[in-house]
Amino acid sequence: MEKLRIQGGRPLHGHIPISGAKNASLPMLAAALLTAEPVRVSNVPRLRDVHTMLAVLQSLGASAAFCGDNEVLVRSNSINNLKAPYELVKTMRASFLVLGPLLARFQFVEVSLPGGCAIGTRPIDQHLKALSALGATIELKEGYVTAQIDGRLRGSLIDMDIATVTGTQNALMAATLADGESTIVNAAREPEIVALANMLIDMGADIKGAGTDVIHVAGKESLHGCTATLMPDRIEAGTFLIAGAATRGCITINGGCHDLLDAPIAKLRQSGAEVSFDGDYIQIDTHGKQPQAVDIRTATYPGIPTDLQAQFLALNCVARGTSRVTETIFENRFMHVPELARLGASIESDGTTATIRGVPQLHGANIMATDLRASSCLVIGGLVAEGETIVDRVYHLDRGYEHIEAKLTAVGADIHRFNEQ
Ligand code: EPU
Repeated sequence: MEKLRIQGGRPLHGHIPISGAKNASLPMLAAALLTAEPVRVSNVPRLRDVHTMLAVLQSLGASAAFCGDNEVLVRSNSINNLKAPYELVKTMRASFLVLGPLLARFQFVEVSLPGGCAIGTRPIDQHLKALSALGATIELKEGYVTAQIDGRLRGSLIDMDIATVTGTQNALMAATLADGESTIVNAAREPEIVALANMLIDMGADIKGAGTDVIHVAGKESLHGCTATLMPDRIEAGTFLIAGAATRGCITINGGCHDLLDAPIAKLRQSGAEVSFDGDYIQIDTHGKQPQAVDIRTATYPGIPTDLQAQFLALNCVARGTSRVTETIFENRFMHVPELARLGASIESDGTTATIRGVPQLHGANIMATDLRASSCLVIGGLVAEGETIVDRVYHLDRGYEHIEAKLTAVGADIHRFNEQ
């Protein structure tokens, strides 16, 4: 089992390049199923989740692989299987994103139910409601969702009860090939939806309103191939900025996404750090000062993303004062709390809100990652803790952070991966 050994207590100083956005890459790769023509996507991070999505596409009969350092080529001209199996979907919920495109293009799809996951039950009812609204007949049998339709999907009103990111993406992809106009109401507004919509428009789709909560789609009979470049990963960027603040360092990142990080940057400024922008660059400078505790309440975009909640919580552990961190999106996203306590953090949690009393110093210990963002928060904990921290179950980290040890080593961290049974 791979683990990370971190010798903490060093401020991070220097420059970190930001990779392409994982959560934009997964729907964009799934969208390549909407056309028989080649789709080329560049700036794709080499992450475990990306490899899983490529494996899902290959299992359907597509050719899908990296063809350059960070470039992926997908050809969906030989799809010969419309079933996404349990073995793949259980390793990554986002495999469910093939539902909309396969149904829209082939009138049939079978996808394993993703089931619950560490951060919550995460139902898929809104994905199914959207496809039903477009005319599909949905059946749940033996752990699989089957969706089918005679002829094309029919454009319609899709009224989401909850603004769901991947649910909106499934609905959007399906609606692009529907017969007639669709309107998605209470759509998620995350930038990754806009990225997907822009790619679909480049493929010939007619979409208006992406990035707002009402999206209009005029369906087309077919879409064509395209080349797309992934936006930078705003969650990776936010993670490194928080790591800079927590370690009392000075970090510059490039990736040009400060406009996507308004709420997190406002919180970092509130914590006492100086944050400045220069073109593509964002710099955070703490001038060596201990951060001030900041209250955090997660929200849909443009609020504080749930995917940065754990990292802010780690920052608060070593901040001056007491803070409250409230999670509003997922019901079980505090599994990092007991692990941070092993480093000496003082946290009380009632399930949705954690109250953190900042301490001047954490101390290294053995800790275990439970999910992707929890693992990056534990790395931040290890970076600020005095002495040695061992982070177990690093495979969670590899789902969403490309070259994380190399990037952190380049800014002065003492962090190494090793293998231990
Ligand atoms: N929900 C429902 N029914 C549905 C769909 C969602 O009740 O049919 C609920 C969820 O249980 C949750 C809320 O709606 O309480 C929002 O979940 P959402 O569907 O928006 O989450 P997601 O699409 O499954 C994406 C990201 C997550 C990120 C969330 C929230 C991808 C591949 N995943 O998940 O990213 O936390 O949006 O922003 O885009 C991560 O990268 O670590 C990660 C978990």
